[in-house]
Amino acid sequence: MHFISLIVSKRTKGNSDMLGRLAINEAMANGAGGQHHWQGELAYLKDYRIEECEGCLRCVFKNEPCHLSDDTYKLFDKIATADALFLVSPTYVLGVPGNLKLAIDKYLLIPKYYNKIYGRPAISVGIGGLANWNHFELPMLNLFLLGLGFRVIDSFYVRGAGPGEVLLNAEPILRLKKGIQNIMNWQVKPFEAQISAHCPVCFSTIFERIGDNRYRCPVCIVECEARDVENPVENSAASGKVSGKGFYFPAETLNNHRWTPKNVEDHFTNWILKTKDRFKKNITEIQKQKRKLGLE
Ligand SMILES: Cc1cc2nc3c(=O)[nH]c(=O)nc-3n(C[C@H](O)[C@H](O)[C@H](O)COP(=O)(O)O)c2cc1C
Repeated sequence: MHFISLIVSKRTKGNSDMLGRLAINEAMANGAGGQHHWQGELAYLKDYRIEECEGCLRCVFKNEPCHLSDDTYKLFDKIATADALFLVSPTYVLGVPGNLKLAIDKYLLIPKYYNKIYGRPAISVGIGGLANWNHFELPMLNLFLLGLGFRVIDSFYVRGAGPGEVLLNAEPILRLKKGIQNIMNWQVKPFEAQISAHCPVCFSTIFERIGDNRYRCPVCIVECEARDVENPVENSAASGKVSGKGFYFPAETLNNHRWTPKNVEDHFTNWILKTKDRFKKNITEIQKQKRKLGLE
């Protein structure tokens, strides 16, 4: 079994590097003497040169390999060797650094990897110097993981600015260690109904309001309703009840999130591939509009 810490930061011995190494140490300590033989690997995003997607769409419409001679396939090949993945990244301007966004934008190349990776566990940690300057960090990290097929079993934000400062906070280190223990004993299971302050799939705390008391996670399209009082509701996925304050997510919506195999397949087949014929039908009208608006 292979455990990878993927480090997004370019800073050697920075905060991400420290947590990435800690995760490997923990995984090796937990794996020793266990049911499976685990090996650990530190991977640095900076070692992969990722060029910008040019939007030519030959990869989907012609089923051709990407013509850019960069390291995107090398990166995805590496990630696909991970039976469990730890992704750790600094926060840059509320979200992820540009090098990770370049990799996220290679989403159209992912079908080749998705089925192999689907259901494998991952943990992500975002690091930043400030509170309230990080709201796009976890959704973006987890969008990358979910898009590749991983199940995000834990994800959290840690404060730390100068290199190594992140190690001064005991609570997140404990949470990371516990997460690594869980990841190594992970068994795929469906989501259960729950009340949570964040989206249980991608850990986003940003929600779209879609009705009086109804909200939706923009990353996963799971719907929920706000519960401001202790109000137990039937858990339809399992027997028992869930209660508490936060957003109530029924099991049905959680298990039908944007990144499930069925919805991913639907997105590629019934949306992306169909844009080609629709565009062909519209060409004459587009030309007319270009002439009319002086854009030829
Ligand atoms: C360009 C840049 C933008 C940053 N933006 C944010 C930010 O929006 N929010 C935040 O909390 N920290 C921000 N930081 C601070 C880093 O996230 C922080 O120093 C982190 O610990 C760096 O991690 P590293 O040591 O793994 O590189 C920024 C740092 C840089 C260099």
